[in-house]
Amino acid sequence: MSSSASLEIVVGVTGGIAAYKVCEVVRSLRELGHGVTVVPTANSLKFIGTATWEALSGRKVQTEIFESVEQVAHVAIGAQADLVIIAPATANFMARLVHGVADDLLTSTLLATSAPIIIFPAMHTSMWNQPATIQNVETLRSRQVTVITPSTGRLTGEDSGIGRLPDLDDILSSALALVHEKDLIGRQVLISAGGTREPLDPVRFLGNRSSGRQGFALASAARARGAEVTLVIGRTDVDPPVGVRVVRVETALEMKAAIDASKSDQDVIIMAAAVADFRPAHASEKKIKKGHALVHLDLVENPDILASLVTGRRTGQIIVGFAAETGDENGSVREHGLIKLASKGVDLLVINDVSGGLVFGSLKNGALIAAVDGEFIDIPYGSKDTLAHAVLDAIVKRIP
Ligand code: C5P
Repeated sequence: MSSSASLEIVVGVTGGIAAYKVCEVVRSLRELGHGVTVVPTANSLKFIGTATWEALSGRKVQTEIFESVEQVAHVAIGAQADLVIIAPATANFMARLVHGVADDLLTSTLLATSAPIIIFPAMHTSMWNQPATIQNVETLRSRQVTVITPSTGRLTGEDSGIGRLPDLDDILSSALALVHEKDLIGRQVLISAGGTREPLDPVRFLGNRSSGRQGFALASAARARGAEVTLVIGRTDVDPPVGVRVVRVETALEMKAAIDASKSDQDVIIMAAAVADFRPAHASEKKIKKGHALVHLDLVENPDILASLVTGRRTGQIIVGFAAETGDENGSVREHGLIKLASKGVDLLVINDVSGGLVFGSLKNGALIAAVDGEFIDIPYGSKDTLAHAVLDAIVKRIP
Protein backbone atom coordinates (compact mmCIF):
# COMPACT_ATOMS: atom_id res chain seq x y z
CA MET A 1 0.00 0.00 0.00
CA SER A 2 1.64 3.29 -0.98
CA SER A 3 1.56 6.52 1.00
CA SER A 4 -0.88 7.98 -1.51
CA ALA A 5 -3.39 5.11 -1.34
CA SER A 6 -6.62 5.98 0.41
CA LEU A 7 -7.16 3.92 3.57
CA GLU A 8 -10.19 3.13 5.71
CA ILE A 9 -9.12 4.12 9.21
CA VAL A 10 -10.99 3.63 12.48
CA VAL A 11 -10.07 6.16 15.16
CA GLY A 12 -11.13 4.91 18.61
CA VAL A 13 -11.28 7.63 21.25
CA THR A 14 -11.41 6.76 24.94
CA GLY A 15 -12.11 8.92 27.97
CA GLY A 16 -8.98 10.98 28.54
CA ILE A 17 -8.49 14.75 28.43
CA ALA A 18 -6.04 14.31 25.51
CA ALA A 19 -9.09 13.49 23.33
CA TYR A 20 -9.11 17.14 22.22
CA LYS A 21 -5.76 16.63 20.47
CA VAL A 22 -7.22 13.78 18.43
CA CYS A 23 -9.47 16.24 16.56
CA GLU A 24 -6.33 17.29 14.66
CA VAL A 25 -5.45 13.65 13.98
CA VAL A 26 -8.85 13.03 12.38
CA ARG A 27 -8.60 16.23 10.38
CA SER A 28 -5.08 15.45 9.12
CA LEU A 29 -6.04 11.90 8.11
CA ARG A 30 -8.93 13.31 6.07
CA GLU A 31 -6.62 15.89 4.48
CA LEU A 32 -4.30 13.04 3.48
CA GLY A 33 -7.27 11.52 1.63
CA HIS A 34 -8.19 8.72 4.02
CA GLY A 35 -11.70 7.70 5.09
CA VAL A 36 -12.11 7.99 8.87
CA THR A 37 -14.73 6.42 11.13
CA VAL A 38 -14.52 7.74 14.68
CA VAL A 39 -15.70 5.35 17.39
CA PRO A 40 -15.71 7.11 20.76
CA THR A 41 -16.41 5.42 24.09
CA ALA A 42 -19.32 6.83 26.11
CA ASN A 43 -16.91 8.34 28.67
CA SER A 44 -14.89 10.12 26.00
CA LEU A 45 -18.01 12.05 24.92
CA LYS A 46 -17.68 13.99 28.19
CA PHE A 47 -14.54 15.55 26.65
CA ILE A 48 -15.40 15.77 22.93
CA GLY A 49 -18.97 15.26 21.70
CA THR A 50 -20.42 13.37 18.77
CA ALA A 51 -21.09 16.56 16.80
CA THR A 52 -17.37 17.40 16.65
CA TRP A 53 -16.41 13.92 15.46
CA GLU A 54 -19.19 13.87 12.85
CA ALA A 55 -18.14 17.26 11.51
CA LEU A 56 -14.45 16.33 11.36
CA SER A 57 -14.89 12.84 9.90
CA GLY A 58 -17.88 13.61 7.69
CA ARG A 59 -19.47 10.38 8.92
CA LYS A 60 -22.10 9.31 11.42
CA VAL A 61 -20.68 8.49 14.84
CA GLN A 62 -21.98 5.79 17.21
CA THR A 63 -20.75 4.54 20.56
CA GLU A 64 -23.11 1.65 21.39
CA ILE A 65 -23.69 -1.69 19.69
CA PHE A 66 -27.44 -1.30 20.18
CA GLU A 67 -27.65 1.65 17.78
CA SER A 68 -28.33 0.81 14.09
CA VAL A 69 -28.44 -2.87 15.08
CA GLU A 70 -29.63 -3.94 11.61
CA GLN A 71 -26.24 -2.83 10.17
CA VAL A 72 -24.23 -4.95 12.64
CA ALA A 73 -21.96 -1.92 12.90
CA HIS A 74 -19.09 -3.47 14.88
CA VAL A 75 -18.56 -6.23 12.30
CA ALA A 76 -18.97 -3.85 9.34
CA ILE A 77 -16.59 -1.22 10.74
CA GLY A 78 -14.04 -3.84 11.81
CA ALA A 79 -14.11 -5.64 8.47
CA GLN A 80 -13.69 -2.49 6.35
CA ALA A 81 -10.78 -1.13 8.40
CA ASP A 82 -7.24 -1.08 6.99
CA LEU A 83 -5.94 0.37 10.25
CA VAL A 84 -7.26 1.05 13.77
CA ILE A 85 -5.83 3.91 15.85
CA ILE A 86 -6.79 4.25 19.52
CA ALA A 87 -5.95 7.71 20.87
CA PRO A 88 -5.95 8.51 23.67
CA ALA A 89 -6.13 5.06 25.27
CA THR A 90 -6.89 5.05 28.99
CA ALA A 91 -5.58 2.44 31.45
CA ASN A 92 -9.17 1.24 31.87
CA PHE A 93 -9.60 0.77 28.12
CA MET A 94 -6.39 -1.28 27.80
CA ALA A 95 -7.52 -3.49 30.71
CA ARG A 96 -10.85 -4.11 28.95
CA LEU A 97 -9.09 -4.93 25.70
CA VAL A 98 -6.73 -7.39 27.39
CA HIS A 99 -9.71 -9.29 28.75
CA GLY A 100 -11.66 -9.31 25.52
CA VAL A 101 -14.49 -7.25 26.98
CA ALA A 102 -16.91 -6.27 24.19
CA ASP A 103 -19.60 -4.15 25.81
CA ASP A 104 -19.56 -1.13 23.52
CA LEU A 105 -18.99 -0.41 19.84
CA LEU A 106 -15.24 0.25 20.13
CA THR A 107 -14.31 -2.89 22.08
CA SER A 108 -16.60 -5.00 19.88
CA THR A 109 -15.07 -3.52 16.70
CA LEU A 110 -11.58 -4.39 17.97
CA LEU A 111 -12.60 -8.01 18.49
CA ALA A 112 -14.12 -8.11 15.01
CA THR A 113 -11.21 -6.64 13.03
CA SER A 114 -8.09 -8.19 11.52
CA ALA A 115 -6.57 -4.76 10.70
CA PRO A 116 -3.37 -3.64 12.46
CA ILE A 117 -4.12 -1.86 15.75
CA ILE A 118 -2.00 0.96 17.18
CA ILE A 119 -2.66 2.32 20.65
CA PHE A 120 -1.51 5.65 22.06
CA PRO A 121 -1.95 5.49 25.85
CA ALA A 122 -2.20 8.80 27.73
CA MET A 123 -2.62 8.97 31.48
CA HIS A 124 -1.01 10.23 34.67
CA THR A 125 2.51 8.89 35.28
CA SER A 126 1.40 7.02 38.41
CA MET A 127 -1.23 5.08 36.41
CA TRP A 128 1.22 4.30 33.58
CA ASN A 129 3.74 2.93 36.09
CA GLN A 130 1.23 0.64 37.88
CA PRO A 131 2.11 -3.07 37.59
CA ALA A 132 -1.40 -3.75 36.23
CA THR A 133 -0.93 -1.25 33.39
CA ILE A 134 2.61 -2.46 32.68
CA GLN A 135 1.37 -6.03 32.39
CA ASN A 136 -1.58 -5.06 30.20
CA VAL A 137 0.75 -3.21 27.81
CA GLU A 138 3.03 -6.25 27.65
CA THR A 139 0.07 -8.54 26.95
CA LEU A 140 -1.20 -6.32 24.15
CA ARG A 141 2.29 -6.10 22.60
CA SER A 142 2.60 -9.90 22.75
CA ARG A 143 -0.62 -10.05 20.69
CA GLN A 144 0.93 -7.90 17.94
CA VAL A 145 -0.93 -4.76 19.01
CA THR A 146 1.42 -1.77 18.66
CA VAL A 147 1.43 0.20 21.91
CA ILE A 148 3.33 3.49 21.71
CA THR A 149 5.05 4.59 24.92
CA PRO A 150 3.63 8.00 25.92
CA SER A 151 5.71 11.18 25.73
CA THR A 152 7.18 12.88 28.77
CA GLY A 153 6.25 16.44 29.76
CA ARG A 154 3.58 18.56 31.40
CA LEU A 155 0.55 16.50 32.46
CA THR A 156 -3.02 17.74 32.90
CA GLY A 157 -2.39 19.10 36.39
CA GLU A 158 0.62 20.97 37.74
CA ASP A 159 3.07 18.08 37.52
CA SER A 160 5.19 16.60 34.72
CA GLY A 161 6.21 13.07 33.78
CA ILE A 162 5.62 10.26 31.32
CA GLY A 163 2.01 9.94 30.16
CA ARG A 164 1.39 12.58 27.49
CA LEU A 165 -0.13 11.84 24.12
CA PRO A 166 2.64 12.19 21.48
CA ASP A 167 2.61 15.10 19.02
CA LEU A 168 0.37 15.04 15.97
CA ASP A 169 3.21 14.28 13.50
CA ASP A 170 4.42 11.36 15.62
CA ILE A 171 0.91 9.91 15.86
CA LEU A 172 0.42 10.15 12.10
CA SER A 173 3.82 8.79 11.14
CA SER A 174 3.78 5.86 13.61
CA ALA A 175 0.23 4.92 12.62
CA LEU A 176 0.68 5.19 8.85
CA ALA A 177 4.01 3.32 9.10
CA LEU A 178 2.04 0.18 10.00
CA VAL A 179 0.34 0.06 6.63
CA HIS A 180 3.01 1.47 4.34
CA GLU A 181 4.51 -0.62 1.58
CA LYS A 182 7.99 -1.73 2.72
CA ASP A 183 9.81 -0.68 -0.46
CA LEU A 184 13.07 0.25 1.31
CA ILE A 185 13.54 -2.99 3.19
CA GLY A 186 17.21 -3.95 3.56
CA ARG A 187 18.32 -0.47 2.40
CA GLN A 188 20.66 1.77 4.38
CA VAL A 189 19.60 5.41 4.33
CA LEU A 190 21.61 8.25 5.87
CA ILE A 191 19.87 11.57 6.46
CA SER A 192 21.38 14.78 7.80
CA ALA A 193 19.05 17.19 9.58
CA GLY A 194 19.00 20.41 11.58
CA GLY A 195 21.43 23.29 11.51
CA THR A 196 25.12 23.38 12.33
CA ARG A 197 26.49 25.73 15.00
CA GLU A 198 29.88 27.30 14.35
CA PRO A 199 31.44 28.50 17.62
CA LEU A 200 32.78 32.00 18.16
CA ASP A 201 33.64 31.40 21.80
CA PRO A 202 32.39 28.97 24.49
CA VAL A 203 28.95 30.61 24.60
CA ARG A 204 28.37 32.15 21.16
CA PHE A 205 27.98 30.64 17.73
CA LEU A 206 26.88 31.32 14.16
CA GLY A 207 23.74 29.29 13.48
CA ASN A 208 20.57 29.20 11.43
CA ARG A 209 16.82 28.69 11.79
CA SER A 210 16.57 25.07 10.63
CA SER A 211 14.19 23.12 12.89
CA GLY A 212 15.25 19.66 11.71
CA ARG A 213 11.62 18.73 11.07
CA GLN A 214 11.94 17.94 7.36
CA GLY A 215 14.94 15.66 7.97
CA PHE A 216 13.06 13.94 10.80
CA ALA A 217 10.00 13.46 8.58
CA LEU A 218 12.27 11.84 5.99
CA ALA A 219 13.79 9.59 8.65
CA SER A 220 10.46 8.35 9.98
CA ALA A 221 9.09 7.89 6.46
CA ALA A 222 12.19 5.88 5.44
CA ARG A 223 11.92 3.77 8.60
CA ALA A 224 8.23 3.18 7.88
CA ARG A 225 9.21 1.89 4.44
CA GLY A 226 11.61 -0.61 5.97
CA ALA A 227 14.98 1.22 5.68
CA GLU A 228 17.72 1.15 8.28
CA VAL A 229 18.11 4.83 8.98
CA THR A 230 21.08 6.78 10.32
CA LEU A 231 20.27 10.38 11.27
CA VAL A 232 23.17 12.81 11.61
CA ILE A 233 21.75 15.81 13.42
CA GLY A 234 22.94 19.25 14.34
CA ARG A 235 20.83 21.59 16.41
CA THR A 236 17.10 20.93 16.15
CA ASP A 237 13.85 22.18 17.71
CA VAL A 238 12.31 18.75 18.24
CA ASP A 239 13.32 15.23 19.29
CA PRO A 240 14.32 12.77 16.56
CA PRO A 241 11.88 9.96 15.69
CA VAL A 242 12.21 6.59 17.38
CA GLY A 243 13.63 3.53 15.65
CA VAL A 244 16.56 5.23 13.91
CA ARG A 245 20.29 5.45 14.74
CA VAL A 246 21.10 8.99 15.85
CA VAL A 247 24.53 10.66 15.66
CA ARG A 248 24.62 14.14 17.19
CA VAL A 249 27.05 16.77 15.94
CA GLU A 250 27.57 20.47 16.43
CA THR A 251 29.65 21.94 13.59
CA ALA A 252 29.89 21.40 9.82
CA LEU A 253 33.29 19.72 10.28
CA GLU A 254 31.82 17.30 12.83
CA MET A 255 28.90 16.60 10.52
CA LYS A 256 31.29 15.81 7.66
CA ALA A 257 33.33 13.47 9.88
CA ALA A 258 30.18 11.65 11.07
CA ILE A 259 28.88 11.24 7.52
CA ASP A 260 32.29 10.17 6.17
CA ALA A 261 32.42 7.46 8.85
CA SER A 262 29.30 5.70 7.56
CA LYS A 263 28.86 6.88 3.95
CA SER A 264 30.30 3.78 2.28
CA ASP A 265 27.54 1.52 3.72
CA GLN A 266 24.69 3.71 2.49
CA ASP A 267 22.38 3.05 -0.45
CA VAL A 268 20.89 6.54 -0.13
CA ILE A 269 22.24 9.76 1.39
CA ILE A 270 19.91 12.73 1.86
CA MET A 271 21.48 16.04 2.91
CA ALA A 272 18.53 17.85 4.50
CA ALA A 273 20.72 19.67 7.04
CA ALA A 274 21.29 23.40 6.87
CA VAL A 275 25.08 23.31 6.92
CA ALA A 276 26.84 26.63 7.57
CA ASP A 277 28.87 27.63 4.52
CA PHE A 278 31.35 29.53 6.69
CA ARG A 279 32.77 29.29 10.21
CA PRO A 280 34.69 31.82 12.29
CA ALA A 281 38.40 31.52 11.45
CA HIS A 282 39.23 31.42 15.16
CA ALA A 283 36.98 30.24 17.97
CA SER A 284 38.12 31.95 21.16
CA GLU A 285 38.70 29.54 24.05
CA LYS A 286 37.52 32.19 26.50
CA LYS A 287 34.30 34.18 26.35
CA ILE A 288 34.90 37.34 24.32
CA LYS A 289 34.46 40.22 26.76
CA LYS A 290 32.07 43.10 26.21
CA GLY A 291 34.93 45.60 26.14
CA HIS A 292 36.43 43.73 23.18
CA ALA A 293 33.24 43.89 21.14
CA LEU A 294 33.58 42.25 17.77
CA VAL A 295 33.93 44.83 15.04
CA HIS A 296 34.70 42.37 12.35
CA LEU A 297 34.73 38.64 12.02
CA ASP A 298 37.13 36.55 9.94
CA LEU A 299 35.38 33.64 8.34
CA VAL A 300 36.70 30.59 6.53
CA GLU A 301 34.75 28.37 4.17
CA ASN A 302 33.37 25.04 5.40
CA PRO A 303 33.73 22.00 3.17
CA ASP A 304 30.70 21.35 0.94
CA ILE A 305 29.72 17.93 2.33
CA LEU A 306 27.26 17.25 -0.49
CA ALA A 307 29.88 17.98 -3.16
CA SER A 308 32.36 15.64 -1.48
CA LEU A 309 29.73 12.88 -1.30
CA VAL A 310 29.05 13.22 -5.03
CA THR A 311 32.76 13.05 -5.86
CA GLY A 312 33.37 10.01 -3.66
CA ARG A 313 30.11 8.12 -4.28
CA ARG A 314 30.08 4.40 -4.88
CA THR A 315 28.27 2.93 -7.87
CA GLY A 316 24.52 2.88 -7.46
CA GLN A 317 24.47 5.18 -4.41
CA ILE A 318 21.66 7.76 -4.64
CA ILE A 319 22.55 11.23 -3.40
CA VAL A 320 19.90 13.84 -2.67
CA GLY A 321 20.43 17.52 -1.84
CA PHE A 322 18.16 20.28 -0.63
CA ALA A 323 18.26 23.84 -1.94
CA ALA A 324 16.63 26.84 -0.29
CA GLU A 325 16.11 29.36 -3.08
CA THR A 326 14.54 32.75 -3.65
CA GLY A 327 13.67 34.18 -7.04
CA ASP A 328 15.42 37.40 -8.16
CA GLU A 329 16.17 39.45 -11.28
CA ASN A 330 18.58 36.73 -12.48
CA GLY A 331 16.00 34.00 -12.47
CA SER A 332 13.09 32.23 -10.79
CA VAL A 333 13.39 29.80 -7.88
CA ARG A 334 13.10 26.96 -10.38
CA GLU A 335 15.86 28.34 -12.64
CA HIS A 336 18.24 28.83 -9.72
CA GLY A 337 17.41 25.30 -8.55
CA LEU A 338 18.16 23.78 -11.92
CA ILE A 339 21.55 25.47 -12.07
CA LYS A 340 22.28 24.07 -8.60
CA LEU A 341 21.12 20.58 -9.61
CA ALA A 342 23.67 20.61 -12.43
CA SER A 343 26.46 22.16 -10.37
CA LYS A 344 26.01 19.83 -7.37
CA GLY A 345 25.89 16.66 -9.46
CA VAL A 346 23.23 15.06 -7.25
CA ASP A 347 20.58 12.56 -8.42
CA LEU A 348 17.74 14.59 -6.93
CA LEU A 349 17.49 18.13 -5.64
CA VAL A 350 14.57 19.18 -3.43
CA ILE A 351 14.10 22.87 -4.20
CA ASN A 352 12.34 24.94 -1.53
CA ASP A 353 11.05 28.43 -2.19
CA VAL A 354 12.05 30.30 0.97
CA SER A 355 10.90 33.75 -0.17
CA GLY A 356 8.81 35.29 2.59
CA GLY A 357 10.30 33.21 5.41
CA LEU A 358 8.33 30.06 4.59
CA VAL A 359 9.68 26.56 5.32
CA PHE A 360 12.44 27.26 7.87
CA GLY A 361 11.03 26.32 11.26
CA SER A 362 7.56 25.79 9.84
CA LEU A 363 5.46 22.63 10.22
CA LYS A 364 4.70 22.59 6.51
CA ASN A 365 6.68 22.48 3.32
CA GLY A 366 6.25 22.35 -0.42
CA ALA A 367 8.91 21.83 -3.06
CA LEU A 368 9.94 21.08 -6.59
CA ILE A 369 11.79 17.77 -6.73
CA ALA A 370 14.17 17.95 -9.69
CA ALA A 371 15.87 14.81 -10.97
CA VAL A 372 19.05 14.74 -13.03
CA ASP A 373 17.24 12.50 -15.54
CA GLY A 374 14.88 15.40 -16.33
CA GLU A 375 11.81 14.54 -14.23
CA PHE A 376 10.25 17.35 -12.18
CA ILE A 377 7.72 16.70 -9.44
CA ASP A 378 5.85 19.64 -7.95
CA ILE A 379 4.74 18.97 -4.37
CA PRO A 380 2.20 21.58 -3.24
CA TYR A 381 2.56 23.21 0.17
CA GLY A 382 1.43 20.62 2.74
CA SER A 383 2.75 18.42 5.51
CA LYS A 384 6.46 17.62 5.78
CA ASP A 385 5.49 13.93 5.92
CA THR A 386 3.81 14.18 2.51
CA LEU A 387 6.92 15.79 1.02
CA ALA A 388 9.11 13.16 2.73
CA HIS A 389 7.18 10.32 1.11
CA ALA A 390 7.26 12.06 -2.29
CA VAL A 391 11.06 12.38 -2.04
CA LEU A 392 11.32 8.68 -1.09
CA ASP A 393 8.99 7.71 -3.97
CA ALA A 394 11.40 9.51 -6.33
CA ILE A 395 14.37 7.75 -4.71
CA VAL A 396 12.82 4.26 -4.76
CA LYS A 397 12.21 4.59 -8.53
CA ARG A 398 15.90 5.27 -9.08
CA ILE A 399 17.52 2.66 -6.82
CA PRO A 400 19.28 0.24 -9.19
O1 C5P B 1 24.93 25.30 -2.01
P1 C5P B 1 23.85 25.22 -1.00
O2 C5P B 1 24.31 25.49 0.40
O3 C5P B 1 22.61 25.97 -1.36
O4 C5P B 1 23.40 23.68 -1.07
C1 C5P B 1 22.48 23.14 -0.18
C2 C5P B 1 22.71 21.65 -0.09
O5 C5P B 1 24.08 21.39 0.16
C3 C5P B 1 21.95 21.01 1.06
O6 C5P B 1 21.62 19.68 0.70
C4 C5P B 1 22.98 21.04 2.20
O7 C5P B 1 22.72 20.01 3.16
C5 C5P B 1 24.28 20.82 1.44
N1 C5P B 1 25.47 21.47 2.02
C6 C5P B 1 26.55 20.70 2.39
N2 C5P B 1 27.68 21.29 2.89
C7 C5P B 1 27.75 22.62 3.02
C8 C5P B 1 26.67 23.43 2.62
C9 C5P B 1 25.54 22.82 2.13
O8 C5P B 1 26.49 19.48 2.26
N3 C5P B 1 28.85 23.16 3.52
